[in-house]
Amino acid sequence: MRILLIGSGGREHAFAWKLAQDPGCSALFIAPGNAGTAECGTNVPVSPTDFAGIRDFVLREGIEMVVVGPEEPLVRGIVDYFQADAELAPVPVIGPSAAGAQLEGSKAFAKKFMERWGIPTAPYREVTSVEEGKAFLRTLSPPYVLKADGLAAGKGVLILEEYQAAVAALQNMLAGQFGEASRRVVIEQFLRGIEFSVFVLTDGQTYKLLPEAKDYKRVGEGDIGPNTGGMGAVSPVPFFDADLKQKVEERIIRPTIQGLIAESIPYKGFIFFGLMNVGGDPYVIEYNCRMGDPETEVVLPRLKNHLTELFRAVAEGKLAEVEIEASPQAAVTVMLTAGGYPGDYRKGDRIEITPAPGCLYLHAGTRRDADGHLLTNGGRVLAVTSLASSLLLAAKQALYAAGEVHFEGKNYRRDIGQDVLSLPLYHLQAISTDPA
Ligand code: AMP
Ligand code: GLY
Repeated sequence: MRILLIGSGGREHAFAWKLAQDPGCSALFIAPGNAGTAECGTNVPVSPTDFAGIRDFVLREGIEMVVVGPEEPLVRGIVDYFQADAELAPVPVIGPSAAGAQLEGSKAFAKKFMERWGIPTAPYREVTSVEEGKAFLRTLSPPYVLKADGLAAGKGVLILEEYQAAVAALQNMLAGQFGEASRRVVIEQFLRGIEFSVFVLTDGQTYKLLPEAKDYKRVGEGDIGPNTGGMGAVSPVPFFDADLKQKVEERIIRPTIQGLIAESIPYKGFIFFGLMNVGGDPYVIEYNCRMGDPETEVVLPRLKNHLTELFRAVAEGKLAEVEIEASPQAAVTVMLTAGGYPGDYRKGDRIEITPAPGCLYLHAGTRRDADGHLLTNGGRVLAVTSLASSLLLAAKQALYAAGEVHFEGKNYRRDIGQDVLSLPLYHLQAISTDPA
């Protein structure tokens, strides 16, 4: 199968790395890709939101399947674009319709959807005026959570400790701090607990659970400082035991899939459930209509199935016939970021890698110059993933390898997974039949 993968981050390098080993993938193109994806297939200089450019490429190259990494093309309706075009319609796209992508594209839509289907999430109010907002904020106790309704490049959630600060932030958001995305704001109750992420692949009828993960969003060790796209991730998540897993499937995943079916929303792709474990009960913090980054960098290395087998089943509505096989090994990824990130960051610094055994170097923001030198080209530069028999070992290996990558201004967190390393990995035995 000739596959076009859309996107250019660490997530897409992880997909490309996995597809490059897949006997079902005869040719792989990545639009636009990065220096890492170029080693797995052919990068194509087409932007993920240039649907006409994607159309030309798909028809010219005889592409047989399109896999969408990031949310933006999905929210903008790439799936609907393909279906509305007689020549493109036979080419399956892995990702939801624009209607399905609203689970991520509109926080207000997602909250109302959860309300309709009884899916546990924080109480909220959707507001378009400061007065409405103030009235609801007064009923809450701090901290206050404000979310821009639309896509805001992962920056649209603000958490404020003081009522007055929350009102001021609300005013700024409604005035267009995040453009059109924050003309509508969701205010919600703060939930106290531990976050984790669960992923499913769905063909719109049934779903398969993929290995879960935990992301580390704050820039600083000990979870301090501003939010980032993610500074590292681990999989499995030790506290995601059989009991929590059952609650997540019963209370969250099944009602979500059934809600999509009942509302006639076509969805053939990934659903990322950003969850909070509140004293053993799961609540939805957010939905994403795609895989996570850097979560994909720990999930895919643990997935034994070939992606083409899974994607074909999704496209044909035969996912029920497939079994997901996860490696019993633990994976830890440490994100190396450019100096200044998540603020204004350095670009164009030379990267030197001394490869460490057992490690995967998944490129996020990288490019090669005319002489073939590897350069930094984004805030998140490189995700170093290690697989080992325990999270502790995987974390040690990934940290060692992170130290053996050099570029000016490099930053990374040395505590990825620290909070869960000491927890028992009973879950590994529970899901694995393969002792390797
Ligand atoms: P989101 O983009 O919706 O995932 O929100 C970004 C981050 O804000 C989440 O990863 C959480 O750490 C935090 N957050 C969002 N909603 C809540 C909430 N209701 N209670 C506590 N923390 C939250
Ligand atoms: N790492 C969080 C996300 O992909 O949204």
